[in-house]
Amino acid sequence: MTDATHMPVMVRETVEALAVKPGGRYLDGTVGAVGHAEAIMDAARPGGTLLGIDRDAEALGLARDRLVRFGDDVRLVQGDYAEMEQICREEGFAPVHGVVLDLGISSMQLDRAARGFSFSKEGPLDMRFNQEQEVTAADIVNGYAEEELANLLWRYGEEPRSRPIARRIVRRRPLSTTVELAKVVEEAVGGRARRQTTHPATRTFMALRIAVNQELLRLETALPQAYGLLGDLGRLVVLSYQSLEDRVVKRFVQRESSDCICPPRQPVCTCGHRAGLRKIGRGAIRPSEEEVKANPRSRSARLRAAERLPPVAA
Ligand SMILES: C[S@@+](CC[C@H](N)C(=O)[O-])C[C@H]1O[C@@H](n2cnc3c(N)ncnc32)[C@H](O)[C@@H]1O
Repeated sequence: MTDATHMPVMVRETVEALAVKPGGRYLDGTVGAVGHAEAIMDAARPGGTLLGIDRDAEALGLARDRLVRFGDDVRLVQGDYAEMEQICREEGFAPVHGVVLDLGISSMQLDRAARGFSFSKEGPLDMRFNQEQEVTAADIVNGYAEEELANLLWRYGEEPRSRPIARRIVRRRPLSTTVELAKVVEEAVGGRARRQTTHPATRTFMALRIAVNQELLRLETALPQAYGLLGDLGRLVVLSYQSLEDRVVKRFVQRESSDCICPPRQPVCTCGHRAGLRKIGRGAIRPSEEEVKANPRSRSARLRAAERLPPVAA
């Protein structure tokens, strides 16, 4: 696997939003090519520790090589961030001063044709982050009913041409490679394809990746666990690259930083909910123009951060 190509996004902003301090204990749920993990560990010296999780065994192998200079201060576990509570319990790694999730895919994964994430590289329709998982993109592309497929493209890819694309896929299947699928999408989208700045298969591939890896469900499962792992004034930082993920994060932070979660029209509060988080910043933090110029992949990034409030004295 080549490792030179992944440029980590908003590293300085992430370290700042986490308020990394010497001796702190940090959880990186998507350790990947370690850009964030390294910067956190550098800022947490002396005495800082980090637990890095990744579903992808290949990515984790690379992370191990890159983080070797931190010795036992860094621990790495192949696993799912949706199981971070259990992983931290098993590792005796809680409470933590900060949790970071840098969602989605790394450039290393995208660049590896054999992983099947890229529409421009001939590879199998795979798209699994964890290669021990059973379901692949081929199972969905070749197995779903047309309507199910269209709904998936609409829901996870926000693809306006979901129906014609699903129809064309069903007519042309079985499909076995990424490039074959990309061509079918291009045919379905027709003349519109040439007027778009992004490749017409971008949304289809994103939708399939999200579905194969159940990314939104995992994120929804992970956020309350991350919150539960934070010590007082611990920070949660999430970087998202598409609106559905960002919405999940935004809603979670909104809810947990509110003193009342009753329906808006209810005249008297009955929920008894108390804010346990404080939002950091007014909205999502976006990458600087210079970063977008240097790393176009950062263009869609949104960073949201929150701080765990100490319990209110009775
Ligand atoms: C954008 S990359 C992270 C890059 C990393 N922050 C860096 O600076 O190099 C996202 C990583 O999250 C991993 N990943 C995706 N879903 C995951 C999950 N549910 N649990 C753990 N890791 C996951 C991917 O395998 C990938 O390596």
